[in-house]
Amino acid sequence: SNQYRIIVLGEGGVGKSAVTIQFLQNHFITKYEPTLEETFRKQMEIDSEQCILEIIDTAGQEDYYSMRERYIKTGEGFLLVYSIISKTTFDKVNPLFESIQRVKESDKPSDTELVIPAVLIGNKSDLSDQRAVTKSEGEELAKSFGIPFFETSAKTSTNIKECFTTVVREMKKI
Ligand code: GTP
Ligand code: MG
Repeated sequence: SNQYRIIVLGEGGVGKSAVTIQFLQNHFITKYEPTLEETFRKQMEIDSEQCILEIIDTAGQEDYYSMRERYIKTGEGFLLVYSIISKTTFDKVNPLFESIQRVKESDKPSDTELVIPAVLIGNKSDLSDQRAVTKSEGEELAKSFGIPFFETSAKTSTNIKECFTTVVREMKKI
Protein backbone atom coordinates (compact mmCIF):
# COMPACT_ATOMS: atom_id res chain seq x y z
CA SER A 1 0.00 0.00 0.00
CA ASN A 2 1.07 3.64 -0.39
CA GLN A 3 0.01 4.46 3.18
CA TYR A 4 2.83 5.08 5.66
CA ARG A 5 2.12 5.34 9.37
CA ILE A 6 4.86 7.28 11.14
CA ILE A 7 5.06 7.68 14.92
CA VAL A 8 6.98 10.64 16.35
CA LEU A 9 8.42 9.67 19.74
CA GLY A 10 10.72 11.30 22.29
CA GLU A 11 10.81 13.15 25.60
CA GLY A 12 8.60 16.13 26.40
CA GLY A 13 9.77 19.43 24.94
CA VAL A 14 12.30 18.05 22.43
CA GLY A 15 10.31 19.52 19.55
CA LYS A 16 8.23 16.65 18.16
CA SER A 17 5.27 18.93 17.45
CA ALA A 18 7.45 21.76 16.14
CA VAL A 19 9.21 19.35 13.75
CA THR A 20 5.90 17.87 12.61
CA ILE A 21 4.24 21.26 12.06
CA GLN A 22 7.30 22.64 10.28
CA PHE A 23 7.13 19.67 7.92
CA LEU A 24 3.38 19.87 7.34
CA GLN A 25 2.72 23.60 7.42
CA ASN A 26 6.11 25.27 6.92
CA HIS A 27 6.04 27.39 10.05
CA PHE A 28 7.70 27.31 13.47
CA ILE A 29 5.68 27.02 16.67
CA THR A 30 7.44 29.04 19.37
CA LYS A 31 4.96 28.37 22.16
CA TYR A 32 5.30 25.18 24.18
CA GLU A 33 2.02 23.37 24.58
CA PRO A 34 2.44 19.73 25.67
CA THR A 35 0.75 17.36 23.23
CA LEU A 36 -1.69 14.63 24.16
CA GLU A 37 -1.93 13.09 20.71
CA GLU A 38 -2.37 14.51 17.22
CA THR A 39 -2.80 12.70 13.92
CA PHE A 40 -2.01 14.33 10.59
CA ARG A 41 -2.20 13.24 6.99
CA LYS A 42 -0.10 14.46 4.11
CA GLN A 43 0.12 13.34 0.53
CA MET A 44 3.50 13.70 -1.12
CA GLU A 45 5.58 12.23 -3.89
CA ILE A 46 8.60 10.25 -2.72
CA ASP A 47 10.81 8.55 -5.33
CA SER A 48 8.05 9.00 -7.93
CA GLU A 49 5.41 7.29 -5.79
CA GLN A 50 2.39 9.18 -4.43
CA CYS A 51 2.52 8.44 -0.71
CA ILE A 52 0.00 9.09 2.01
CA LEU A 53 1.81 9.82 5.24
CA GLU A 54 -0.14 9.37 8.44
CA ILE A 55 1.85 11.09 11.16
CA ILE A 56 1.13 10.53 14.84
CA ASP A 57 2.60 13.25 17.04
CA THR A 58 2.74 11.71 20.52
CA ALA A 59 2.97 12.97 24.08
CA GLY A 60 6.45 13.14 25.58
CA GLN A 61 5.34 13.96 29.10
CA GLU A 62 5.78 11.00 31.48
CA ASP A 63 2.10 11.06 32.52
CA TYR A 64 1.21 9.71 29.10
CA TYR A 65 3.83 6.93 28.91
CA SER A 66 1.13 4.26 29.15
CA MET A 67 -0.04 5.18 25.65
CA ARG A 68 3.34 4.43 24.14
CA GLU A 69 2.91 0.66 23.86
CA ARG A 70 -0.16 1.15 21.70
CA TYR A 71 1.57 3.64 19.39
CA ILE A 72 4.46 1.27 18.98
CA LYS A 73 2.16 -1.66 18.18
CA THR A 74 0.33 0.19 15.44
CA GLY A 75 3.32 2.14 14.13
CA GLU A 76 5.23 1.13 11.01
CA GLY A 77 7.95 3.77 11.00
CA PHE A 78 9.40 5.82 13.85
CA LEU A 79 11.03 9.20 14.28
CA LEU A 80 13.00 9.12 17.53
CA VAL A 81 13.60 12.68 18.65
CA TYR A 82 15.88 14.16 21.31
CA SER A 83 17.12 17.70 21.82
CA ILE A 84 20.83 18.46 21.27
CA ILE A 85 20.64 20.88 24.23
CA SER A 86 19.45 18.19 26.69
CA LYS A 87 21.51 15.15 27.62
CA THR A 88 18.56 13.71 29.57
CA THR A 89 16.42 13.53 26.44
CA PHE A 90 19.30 11.83 24.59
CA ASP A 91 19.69 9.24 27.37
CA LYS A 92 16.00 8.33 27.06
CA VAL A 93 16.34 7.30 23.41
CA ASN A 94 18.01 3.95 24.10
CA PRO A 95 15.26 2.63 26.43
CA LEU A 96 12.71 3.91 23.91
CA PHE A 97 14.31 2.03 21.02
CA GLU A 98 14.51 -1.07 23.23
CA SER A 99 10.78 -0.92 23.91
CA ILE A 100 10.10 -0.67 20.18
CA GLN A 101 12.33 -3.71 19.61
CA ARG A 102 10.60 -5.64 22.39
CA VAL A 103 7.10 -4.93 21.08
CA LYS A 104 7.97 -5.57 17.42
CA GLU A 105 9.93 -8.72 18.27
CA SER A 106 6.95 -10.22 20.07
CA ASP A 107 4.60 -9.34 17.20
CA LYS A 108 6.61 -10.76 14.31
CA PRO A 109 6.84 -14.37 13.06
CA SER A 110 9.83 -16.01 14.78
CA ASP A 111 11.53 -17.07 11.53
CA THR A 112 11.93 -13.52 10.18
CA GLU A 113 14.58 -10.94 10.95
CA LEU A 114 13.57 -7.88 12.94
CA VAL A 115 13.98 -4.64 10.99
CA ILE A 116 12.62 -1.43 12.48
CA PRO A 117 12.21 1.45 10.02
CA ALA A 118 13.29 4.43 12.09
CA VAL A 119 15.33 7.63 12.01
CA LEU A 120 17.16 9.23 14.93
CA ILE A 121 16.76 13.00 15.20
CA GLY A 122 18.82 15.45 17.24
CA ASN A 123 16.59 18.53 17.14
CA LYS A 124 17.21 22.20 18.02
CA SER A 125 20.46 22.32 16.04
CA ASP A 126 20.03 26.11 15.75
CA LEU A 127 20.83 26.33 19.49
CA SER A 128 24.41 25.13 19.06
CA ASP A 129 25.69 27.57 21.71
CA GLN A 130 23.74 25.49 24.27
CA ARG A 131 24.72 22.11 22.82
CA ALA A 132 24.89 19.27 25.39
CA VAL A 133 25.06 16.29 23.00
CA THR A 134 27.75 16.15 20.32
CA LYS A 135 26.96 15.23 16.75
CA SER A 136 29.19 12.16 17.00
CA GLU A 137 27.29 10.92 20.06
CA GLY A 138 24.13 11.08 17.96
CA GLU A 139 25.82 9.36 15.03
CA GLU A 140 27.18 6.59 17.26
CA LEU A 141 23.79 5.90 18.81
CA ALA A 142 22.09 5.75 15.40
CA LYS A 143 24.83 3.45 14.16
CA SER A 144 24.28 1.11 17.13
CA PHE A 145 20.59 0.90 16.14
CA GLY A 146 21.45 0.59 12.44
CA ILE A 147 19.29 3.58 11.49
CA PRO A 148 19.89 6.95 9.75
CA PHE A 149 20.64 10.09 11.78
CA PHE A 150 19.92 13.78 11.27
CA GLU A 151 20.41 16.91 13.30
CA THR A 152 17.41 19.12 12.63
CA SER A 153 16.01 22.50 13.47
CA ALA A 154 12.27 23.05 13.48
CA LYS A 155 13.10 26.75 13.68
CA THR A 156 15.25 27.04 10.55
CA SER A 157 13.69 23.97 8.88
CA THR A 158 17.10 22.29 8.54
CA ASN A 159 16.78 18.60 7.57
CA ILE A 160 13.07 18.47 8.43
CA LYS A 161 11.86 17.18 5.07
CA GLU A 162 14.81 14.78 4.88
CA CYS A 163 13.76 13.00 8.10
CA PHE A 164 10.29 12.23 6.82
CA THR A 165 11.37 11.15 3.34
CA THR A 166 14.13 9.01 4.84
CA VAL A 167 11.81 7.18 7.24
CA VAL A 168 9.43 6.49 4.34
CA ARG A 169 12.35 5.06 2.33
CA GLU A 170 13.24 2.85 5.30
CA MET A 171 9.61 1.66 5.41
CA LYS A 172 9.65 0.92 1.69
CA LYS A 173 12.68 -1.34 2.18
CA ILE A 174 10.79 -3.88 4.30
P1 GTP B 1 5.52 17.36 24.11
O1 GTP B 1 4.33 17.51 23.21
O2 GTP B 1 5.25 17.80 25.51
O3 GTP B 1 6.05 15.96 24.09
O4 GTP B 1 6.70 18.33 23.54
P2 GTP B 1 7.26 18.39 22.04
O5 GTP B 1 8.36 17.40 21.89
O6 GTP B 1 6.15 18.28 21.06
O7 GTP B 1 7.94 19.83 21.97
P3 GTP B 1 7.38 21.12 21.17
O8 GTP B 1 7.41 20.84 19.71
O9 GTP B 1 6.11 21.55 21.75
O10 GTP B 1 8.56 22.16 21.47
C1 GTP B 1 8.88 22.54 22.80
C2 GTP B 1 9.54 23.91 22.78
O11 GTP B 1 10.78 23.85 22.08
C3 GTP B 1 8.68 24.96 22.04
O12 GTP B 1 8.80 26.18 22.74
C4 GTP B 1 9.35 25.06 20.68
O13 GTP B 1 9.23 26.32 20.09
C5 GTP B 1 10.80 24.76 21.00
N1 GTP B 1 11.50 24.14 19.85
C6 GTP B 1 11.11 23.02 19.19
N2 GTP B 1 11.96 22.74 18.21
C7 GTP B 1 12.90 23.71 18.21
C8 GTP B 1 14.06 23.99 17.40
O14 GTP B 1 14.42 23.26 16.47
N3 GTP B 1 14.78 25.10 17.74
C9 GTP B 1 14.44 25.92 18.76
N4 GTP B 1 15.20 26.98 18.99
N5 GTP B 1 13.37 25.68 19.54
C10 GTP B 1 12.60 24.60 19.27
MG1 MG C 1 4.22 17.96 21.28
